[in-house]
Amino acid sequence: MYTIGCQMNELDSELALAALDEDGIRPVESAAEADVLLVNTCSVREKAEEKAYSWLGRMKALKRVNPDLIIGVLGCMAQKEGELIFRRAPYVDIVAGTAHFTRVDDYVRQVRATGKRILAIGRDEQVQTEKRLKARATPQSSFVAVMRGCDHHCTYCVVPNTRGMEQSRELEEIVEECRILVGEGTQEITLLGQNIDSYGKRLRPRRRSLAELLYAVADVPGLKRLRFVTSHPSDLRPELFQAFKDLPNLMPYLHFPAQSGSNEVLKRMRRGYTHERYLELVAAARDAVPDIGLAGDTIVGFCGETEEDFERTIELHEKTRYQASFIFMYSERDFTPAKDQGLIDDVPFDVKKRRINHLIHLQRQWSTEENLKKIGKVYEVFGEGPSKRNPGRQEGRSPQNQVVIVESGRDLAGKCYSVRIDRATDAALYGTLE
Ligand code: SAH
Ligand code: SF4
Ligand code: F3S
Repeated sequence: MYTIGCQMNELDSELALAALDEDGIRPVESAAEADVLLVNTCSVREKAEEKAYSWLGRMKALKRVNPDLIIGVLGCMAQKEGELIFRRAPYVDIVAGTAHFTRVDDYVRQVRATGKRILAIGRDEQVQTEKRLKARATPQSSFVAVMRGCDHHCTYCVVPNTRGMEQSRELEEIVEECRILVGEGTQEITLLGQNIDSYGKRLRPRRRSLAELLYAVADVPGLKRLRFVTSHPSDLRPELFQAFKDLPNLMPYLHFPAQSGSNEVLKRMRRGYTHERYLELVAAARDAVPDIGLAGDTIVGFCGETEEDFERTIELHEKTRYQASFIFMYSERDFTPAKDQGLIDDVPFDVKKRRINHLIHLQRQWSTEENLKKIGKVYEVFGEGPSKRNPGRQEGRSPQNQVVIVESGRDLAGKCYSVRIDRATDAALYGTLE
């Protein structure tokens, strides 16, 4: 299984693997050993789709050697491209969209029995995407989807097309799933939703809110750390800040994308807030939770973005001082409001490139400055185990979700320990075990 895309996709891959596990189909080390090859795809930027197609291109050779090999494409690009994938890559056997990936075990069986390819991208069927089964990749830390889809119409974004309208899961069902996970050894849960602040708004007979959900999940005995992503500045409710104050296991971290700092661009993106409003919310969050870690997403080079617009984005970054920031060049997508309404992708590639490099450069300086202020402080770290590049080092996360690295030969995965910070870069904190 090769997973491209966001955390929701990582979770979906786990759920698909769990379904296959019931049929005795288990992950193997390399593609060459596999009987079933799957890619879980993303459509958010053109590059993500190119990645999937180039992976498919490489897998084609394996199919020539082993004609029984089954190749499947799951997720957002499967949903968006459908039939087109068979045309571009005729050796693909399964195309299963965002409501069908947990049926992949059935599809594999059908392909084996009939030799016919399968296209499953209908939206009408309700499928149980969350049947939580055994095989979990990282038992100490788990994702739980609380909703799927999105009701916003941010003009650049393909997600409402690939994942459909927002559908929240029942609160009790989510809490039960969290209880089971903690019972199996999970210590940290990250609740996932494309626009998690609007959780529960359509549930009946009673609407629910994200705050209500957080109080209920935080109460699961044995849960050490609770997180949630992603927040939308137009839907964030102040009662959330109270939840951070009340719940010791709710971690002080907010993924809070601004996308742009220019009011003109924000309007064209249809984000529903202004530069000023965004900064007000940041101030309110910091007021309520002074040590909160803020992460943002920013798109540079959106349709019609001028140098002045870009300056406003720089200003917003400078004032917000994100702990982490994900910056992207605008990538025009089919089936987005921008494309449908004829907004023109008119910022030349080299201008986008210059702007992104400039902003990344500045952001690195600001992140370094902020991180240097943390030297001498002690953080409670949740261990993720040895660093991939250097096994003599242990990596973990601070409550604010920052990477914290210590020199230690002991495997600290799943452990909580205190670290005094003595060094920092833009991307990580380094320290010694207390
Ligand atoms: N639901 C989340 C994230 C959606 S996609 C949210 O609302 O914030 C993740 C990020 O990809 C977005 O926050 C945005 O910054 C970026 N993105 C989305 N569409 C894009 C596009 N067409 N081009 C470049 N970046 C895009
Ligand atoms: Fe896309 Fe906007 Fe929905 Fe996020 S809130 S998934 S950016 S439409
Ligand atoms: Fe996620 Fe990409 Fe789909 S960001 S929702 S996998 S388009």
